[in-house]
Amino acid sequence: MKKLYVKTYGCQMNVYDSDRMADTLAVEGYEATGTLEDADLILLNTCHIREKAAEKVYSELGRIRKLKAARALEGKETMVGVAGCVAQAEGAEILRRAPVVDLVVGPSSYHHLPELIAKARDKRGAIETEFPIEDKFEHLPAASREKTIARGVTAFLTVQEGCDKFCTFCVVPYTRGSEVSRPVAQLIDEAKRLVDAGVREVTLLGQNVNAYHGAGPDGTDWTLGRLLHRLAEIPGLDRLRYTTSHPRDMDDALLAAHRDLPQLMPYLHLPIQAGADRVLAAMNRKHTRADYLALIERIRAARPDIAMSGDFIVGFPGETEAEFAETLAVVDEVGYASAYSFKYSARPGTPASAEADQIADAVKSERLQRLQERIDAQARAFNRSRVGMTFDVLFEKPGKRAGQLVGRSPWLQPVHVMAPSQLIGEIAAVVIDDIGTNSLFGTLIEPVTESRVAMSGGKR
Ligand code: 5AD
Ligand code: SF4
Repeated sequence: MKKLYVKTYGCQMNVYDSDRMADTLAVEGYEATGTLEDADLILLNTCHIREKAAEKVYSELGRIRKLKAARALEGKETMVGVAGCVAQAEGAEILRRAPVVDLVVGPSSYHHLPELIAKARDKRGAIETEFPIEDKFEHLPAASREKTIARGVTAFLTVQEGCDKFCTFCVVPYTRGSEVSRPVAQLIDEAKRLVDAGVREVTLLGQNVNAYHGAGPDGTDWTLGRLLHRLAEIPGLDRLRYTTSHPRDMDDALLAAHRDLPQLMPYLHLPIQAGADRVLAAMNRKHTRADYLALIERIRAARPDIAMSGDFIVGFPGETEAEFAETLAVVDEVGYASAYSFKYSARPGTPASAEADQIADAVKSERLQRLQERIDAQARAFNRSRVGMTFDVLFEKPGKRAGQLVGRSPWLQPVHVMAPSQLIGEIAAVVIDDIGTNSLFGTLIEPVTESRVAMSGGKR
């Protein structure tokens, strides 16, 4: 059996895609390995969102070049493929810059991998970065229908791909193409197969997941809210999440899902990106700071225990100190359970990269540090607020210490608990005793309760 090594960079969408590539290639006789040196086929599933992410790929390819040469001396062939968003954005340029690469495949073409591998075997340089008309999703699971491997208790399910929003800093509309939603029936089918394979929690993925508008079985387009209501009817699918959302697409059906579905976990990643209206307009976000704050109020009215998460960019072209202070103020006003923050990175081909007033890196670094301190303080406060509370934990895997398991709280925090290994894949009530750096410590409550979020203790 040939061995496949997939290295994944970037977002959860890539994690999902990497698993589907492995499923597809399993049908072709490739077995997954975690050891790079053993691999007959190496795939790098790459990210282009910031310059740093893209450059990582080339340094990894440098290492792989040496490995490939060493294996060749032993008479072993190694095929190297670059997949993902760097593949889409740079295409043939990768083949020129990195002669170690045999094939390049963009995110919409993974169902063509077997043919591409055959082509590259004949002649180096097979490349596929089209946005084909046929649906990769229809082909991927079909090829691997019998191969849906339970990779754990939780799973990702891509429901939507691409983006039509064109924020001026972002490469996604170019690398992932325009918005495409998968049909409802296909998603229900895949979710059921995941549950049959032992999955209890599914996170719906999309670059703009709440813009979901897939064809429903009744011939109309369904919203994400409606899809969530339907998925919540699947027996054994105890927890649902979705990521990542745009504030403009939080509609009433989605708020109703947060209000009505106990399966929908009370955690929402909803990026604002920046706090100042001038910057938001320059980013083409099409919402103001006031719109965002009003929306969060409505979300909290629907689901009072919801924890907020978000993304921020510091040092967008022209950002003044006063404008940056407005970003800090948004953080104070919202109170995030967690958030991601990044220095603005000029991406080739995006409108903002052509702006004259780029911000010096030292200024960006200093702003990033101030922002991260504030976010970290809020995350610690949020974790601390869970101490003394009792709630359901979904146990996922053994912990570092003997006899310990790690699970997730409804708010996505890792929870460490002394518990028997039979509880992996189960939901049980835990009382929180203490907090770690980014996690909680708790004690099992007997008897094990049913799968609902049992809240006690105070709200935030
Ligand atoms: N520079 C910095 N951060 C970016 N993001 C997207 N594009 C850029 C960029 N050019 C961030 C946004 C987005 C997250 C996935 O990455 O915050 O929400
Ligand atoms: Fe990028 Fe904006 Fe689309 Fe998100 S909404 S993927 S930040 S263009």
